[in-house]
Amino acid sequence: MTASRKTLHVNLFEMACVSHIVHGMWRAPGNNRHRFGEMAFWLDIARRAESAGVDAIFLADVVGVYDRFGGVEAALRLGLQIPNLDPLSIVPAMAAVTEHLGFATTFSTTYEPPFAFARRMSTLDLLTGGRTGWNIVTSYLPNAARNFGLNDEVPHDDRYTRADEYLEVLYKLWEGSWESDAIVADREADIFSDPARVHRIHHAGPHFRVEGPHLVQPTPQRTPVLFQATGSSRGLQTAARHAEAIFIGGRTRDEVCANIASTRAAAARQGRDPSDLKFYVMAGLIAGRTEEEARSKLARYRTFYSVEGALVHAQAELDLRAYDRSMTIAQALEQSGSPFGNMGRRFGTEQTIGNAIDQISTFDEGRFFVVGTPEQIADAVESWLDEDGIDGINMRQYHTFETLDDYAELIAPELRRRGRLPDPPRAGETLRHRLFGHDLLPETHPAAACRPAALRRSTHGTDLHTPSRAPENAS
Ligand SMILES: Cc1cc2nc3c(=O)[nH]c(=O)nc-3n(C[C@H](O)[C@H](O)[C@H](O)COP(=O)(O)O)c2cc1C
Repeated sequence: MTASRKTLHVNLFEMACVSHIVHGMWRAPGNNRHRFGEMAFWLDIARRAESAGVDAIFLADVVGVYDRFGGVEAALRLGLQIPNLDPLSIVPAMAAVTEHLGFATTFSTTYEPPFAFARRMSTLDLLTGGRTGWNIVTSYLPNAARNFGLNDEVPHDDRYTRADEYLEVLYKLWEGSWESDAIVADREADIFSDPARVHRIHHAGPHFRVEGPHLVQPTPQRTPVLFQATGSSRGLQTAARHAEAIFIGGRTRDEVCANIASTRAAAARQGRDPSDLKFYVMAGLIAGRTEEEARSKLARYRTFYSVEGALVHAQAELDLRAYDRSMTIAQALEQSGSPFGNMGRRFGTEQTIGNAIDQISTFDEGRFFVVGTPEQIADAVESWLDEDGIDGINMRQYHTFETLDDYAELIAPELRRRGRLPDPPRAGETLRHRLFGHDLLPETHPAAACRPAALRRSTHGTDLHTPSRAPENAS
């Protein structure tokens, strides 16, 4: 065991629904997913995750239904991300029964204004002692847009432009509005907060107008740990500027390496230290005490897999099952008269229908999938760390709680034996400290420019920004 070995950060990938990404698996004997509406389920999973030594529970979220393939009926019938509980509301219960487990929660920048979200997130960061993360998403479901008063989705790149401003508002509230020593709690003088050390933000931009001050005092991390997943060039621009932990795609080791290198270079162009970024992938680990046991577990899981669920989740414009397996996606699209869309983007137009079906009906087993003994799994993880250059994984749950228990009992001990897991957390450690070795965002992050000290260098006075004229469409 050498101290210099790169260690693996692990999030448990969750969503407060019955069918998140491994559709059909909820029916497997012993699977607890149907209990996601019970408080006891979340307390159970939080305790198990903490004792397994994962860094955080990562909660996905959508704010609409997948109604393109099979309509809303199919999603409802399959329990596919509906019903779906509000992830932010689940965190306090899990935090109350754990000491150092982190909680990375998904929230969209597209539909709800930043002021209320800033307050909710700060409340969580304060009460959890700095154990929060935020998965920044801009949302992709047309139904979500119609749930929030729009006729259709905001165009893709415009969503990221809005996200950039959303983050700027948040940084002003989280990093700039309250000075660290603003709460004086002086009973004699009858002063709780010193007004000279709390600032309005007077943000006025194309999308948002927020006066401030922030309603919550400084929290251990101020800004939660920023996660983002993106595949587009506009999304990568936002991620390179803001995200600390980025989900990276790639079908081969070379593709993953190239994507990591180009994202680090994009971050450096934004003035950030490229070594401040960590790269994550979604990974599937299926373990057994013997290779045979692991393979039979995989075979058992596969019998439950729902191809229909995969098509609903992919917002498919084609029912792949209705075409000859030897046809390409391009030919099927042409035959059906469907435009190039989700199927083409996901599989590539030259892929055959047969390959695409095999891929989805075997749980998307790509580069970051391994089935085997703890030693075989640890070998794969070591190659992901050392050859692909990743730092962490979102661990897919095939079976709740079997996946987590297998990780705790079989996989983690082997990774630990090889020095591939971080040291156990210290009492009171924040999530950012655990991942990056410090509690607050570094000075090279754009949020630092919103801190009072940085602003005092460029302006004077108590308020953070000189108010500018608000645009007509500010919300
Ligand atoms: C590990 C992972 C988790 C994700 N979680 C969510 C989520 O919870 N909610 C969501 O709307 N999108 C989620 N996404 C999708 C991304 O936010 C994003 O839309 C997708 O990667 C495509 O990138 P683009 O929007 O830049 O084209 C996730 C993606 C990955 C890889």
